[in-house]
Amino acid sequence: MKVAVLKERRAGETRVAATPETVKKLIGMGCTLAVEAGAGLASGITDAAFTEAGANLAADAAGALAGANIVLKVRAPLAAGEGAVDELSLIPRGALLIATLAADAEAAGRYAAAGIDACAMELLPRITRAQSMDVLSSQANLAGYRAVVEASTSYDKGFPMMMTAAGTVPAANAFIMGAGVAGLQAIATARRLGGRVSATDVRPAAKEEIKSLGASFVGYEDEESKAAQTAGGYAKQLSAAFYAKQAEVVAAHIAKQDVVICTALVQGRRAPILVTAEMVAAMKPGSVIVDIASDAGGNCALTKPGELFVTENGVKILGFTNWPGRIPAAASALYARNLLTFLSTFWDKDAKAPKLSEEDEIVKGVALTRGGAVVHPQMKPAQAG
Ligand code: NAI
Repeated sequence: MKVAVLKERRAGETRVAATPETVKKLIGMGCTLAVEAGAGLASGITDAAFTEAGANLAADAAGALAGANIVLKVRAPLAAGEGAVDELSLIPRGALLIATLAADAEAAGRYAAAGIDACAMELLPRITRAQSMDVLSSQANLAGYRAVVEASTSYDKGFPMMMTAAGTVPAANAFIMGAGVAGLQAIATARRLGGRVSATDVRPAAKEEIKSLGASFVGYEDEESKAAQTAGGYAKQLSAAFYAKQAEVVAAHIAKQDVVICTALVQGRRAPILVTAEMVAAMKPGSVIVDIASDAGGNCALTKPGELFVTENGVKILGFTNWPGRIPAAASALYARNLLTFLSTFWDKDAKAPKLSEEDEIVKGVALTRGGAVVHPQMKPAQAG
């Protein structure tokens, strides 16, 4: 089995889908590895580190992909017209592609037409057995940490209360909106830095998790929010009336915050707007909003995805996208392990080849295409509309 690892070409992508550690393990499973030159540089991994681990270096994407049976990527391969290299056309027919594909029915159709068996790791079911392969969790965890660290450097005071001979610096008030994987890590990080931390969420289970990390819960609850969680563990889209009530409850609280970390997402939809322009206007100058929901449009109405924006009243809004990519070495290490765990879980040791059992719940969740056909129920053209 030849495994290809490409340099990520999408704008701002700093991660890589394999590390020397996972390369060694894949070789141990019977694979040969072709890593495109420079693939790991943005994550601090040199070409030499990959070759020392046993990988062959390929000068370009075409070289890495020639004859590849398995392709490991962070983001979807570039298709014709998306960049200088049409990566998709270079992937051999019959190859297994494992990446976060953010695919729709049209993209799934392209993979099927190209004869690529595509697995979209972001569609992994949220079951205990899949936790060690869960790329959304591993990356969200780091994003939550990074958001607080960047908030602390953008905030002109400090997080902890500091008692000095010259007087006391008060602790920062930090409010975490959305207490999923990223939000819980943000709470833990803000607490470690010494902030006074509060958080909100709509899923009932999140309230106890917030409290167990030592933060206070601020939020609105009603009959609707009691059923706010899908069977898959995600938050549901709630009614406009609920969001209006939630905004009422958090508005006064936000006005008193020094730092607001936005992490709220509703799967498959634009991120909910939780911080309105009026709420930002009521914040103190020097306050910081970090919007890690910016890839999905952002939780703050004034977020400019991809940018740092300072409002007229002096509030800094960090709307950068791809937050895991802002902590690339750690993000790549965890992402690469997630992919390795997925492959090794579905590995036929005798054949030294992947064996994706069609009946397995995890495989059913991630497999978009197989043998030239779209197999994912949500991606089939007839049901796509
Ligand atoms: P996510 O990234 O989709 O959303 C982030 C958070 O935003 C969620 O907690 C969600 O409830 C919250 N949110 C949505 N709308 C909101 C609103 N209007 N106001 C405030 N908060 C709002 O979710 P994430 O972090 O990927 O996971 C959510 C949960 O899924 C986890 O806490 C966990 O219970 C479960 N999970 C289970 C896994 C497993 O068993 N394998 C793996 C990962 C997560």
